[in-house]
Amino acid sequence: MAAKLNVNIDHVATIREARKTIEPSIVTAAVICEQAGAHGITVHLRGDRRHIQDRDIEVLREVVTTYLNVEMAATDEMVEIALRTMPEAVSLVPESPNEVTTEGGLDVVANFENVKRVVGKLKAAGIFVSIFLDPDLEQIEAANGAGAQQVELCTAEYADMTLSSRASHGEGAQKAAAEISRIAQAATHAVKLGLIVAAGHGLTYRNVASLASIPEITEFNIGHNIISRSVFVGLSQAVKEMIEAIK
Ligand code: PXP
Repeated sequence: MAAKLNVNIDHVATIREARKTIEPSIVTAAVICEQAGAHGITVHLRGDRRHIQDRDIEVLREVVTTYLNVEMAATDEMVEIALRTMPEAVSLVPESPNEVTTEGGLDVVANFENVKRVVGKLKAAGIFVSIFLDPDLEQIEAANGAGAQQVELCTAEYADMTLSSRASHGEGAQKAAAEISRIAQAATHAVKLGLIVAAGHGLTYRNVASLASIPEITEFNIGHNIISRSVFVGLSQAVKEMIEAIK
């Protein structure tokens, strides 16, 4: 069975926040994605609230009927919001104030006690917990030890390698193949530990197929590329094309 697609709609809110106004509607975006066949909706509530706002989480909780996955830092402020709004899933991510986007996975090894504490609180409330990680065996074991039910493997390095035609021949192709193999090994290891495996970051219509052929990966979280394409073909079509690319 093909992996599921959760569409990350942060950048619909990015456009709205560029004018601090009411459009485009995040609710309309979520409904269109679901009607186009997305298996879930992902949003990242950042500490700086640069796109998604607290109210968006509340409204999306009312509207999303498939699966609401909220990415957040492992802080008490975010745990409180999760416990109040009760998304189906929380994905713990690292956050630093000046980053353009999430830079790599959470260092669970270095932050083990805090991550374990946060995972425990979320799970006790019945929220499914995923942790965004680099494809690194030590981090996967730490995430498992902290009680996570899923790991989301960070595909940023692979995505970077496949941005241009570099990846289609010579040394570029070899590096991309080595990174795919690192992700596949990490996925196999995680499944052996009993974890569910997702992947995401920087994935596109062009580069997702190689990862979609790794059977251990059962979910993708993809945002920027889908929202970018939606400018030209509409959101429904953009989501359908990504579902096809994953198949
Ligand atoms: N997964 C995680 C944990 C992320 O932080 C992001 C970006 O918000 C994504 C997936 C989606 O990345 P992209 O927008 O590059 O598809």
